[in-house]
Amino acid sequence: MKNRSLVSIEDYSKDEILRILELSKHFEKNPNQKILDGKVIASLFFEPSTRTRLSFESAVSKLGGSIIGFSEAGSSSVSKGESLKDTILTVSKYSDLIVMRHPLEGAAKYASEVSRVPIVNAGDGANQHPTQTLLDLYSIKKTQGTLSDLNIFLVGDLKYGRTVHSLLMALSNFNPVFNFIAHPKLRIPIEYKLYLDELGIKYYEHTEFTDIISRADIIYMTRLQRERFSDPVEYEKTKNVYVLRNEMLENTKDNLRILHPLPRVNEINEDVDSNPKAYYFEQAENGVYARQAIISSILGLS
Ligand code: CP
Repeated sequence: MKNRSLVSIEDYSKDEILRILELSKHFEKNPNQKILDGKVIASLFFEPSTRTRLSFESAVSKLGGSIIGFSEAGSSSVSKGESLKDTILTVSKYSDLIVMRHPLEGAAKYASEVSRVPIVNAGDGANQHPTQTLLDLYSIKKTQGTLSDLNIFLVGDLKYGRTVHSLLMALSNFNPVFNFIAHPKLRIPIEYKLYLDELGIKYYEHTEFTDIISRADIIYMTRLQRERFSDPVEYEKTKNVYVLRNEMLENTKDNLRILHPLPRVNEINEDVDSNPKAYYFEQAENGVYARQAIISSILGLS
């Protein structure tokens, strides 16, 4: 992992994923260690973010490092027409590692090819969100005691949801059974189904989930990615189709946990928040520890 960019979750082997999870546990127990003293992390967000950007900033601050960057492209020289290449070449002169979110699929890979320092992909369009996946896996392991042989329900925008794409690839190391619940227009793309077919991973597609929810170990709800719809009418037709309500959780397994990468719009009713099976805000907290683990291992400090 040392000095390597994290562009896709496939950049990490199963053993490397497990190492990040062990390190996340270590940082959860000891979050304040000044191992990044003198290190500068650049945080370049060309798309809005609350959790990813702020949990990276929190992770760096707790480890004694400095953070520089921007939270919108409009406040950088990109607004004057500067290219992504020139931006990355410049910022890599000022920093030891660059965390970048960008609306275009492939932008993180391109940045990693021109950068002089490692790039961490904080989300590239509808493609990948590998650091979210590592905190999701940490959350699943913490709540289930294992990552293996789980019945995983992925619900909502499976077409544009980058968190889902990264998560299913990573979980494929651990013999899951997937249940994909989506509107026909937002089904999981064919390339991910072919990926699972090749690995012999079982999956089932549904348009309803009320009747099958009792089988789930993890329900991973997702927001419709309105910003990725080219047709606003299509968004209006598909929004609010899947809303999880507290009463739906009555006959579910004791170990079931509800995850959501957040932000939510309407897909989890607020009456779920007080149910002990709701785990999405703890999941967001786990992002700090997972990102401490990612940064420190890439910089060769743990
Ligand atoms: N989960 C996630 O990526 O949230 P933000 O968009 O707030 O960073």
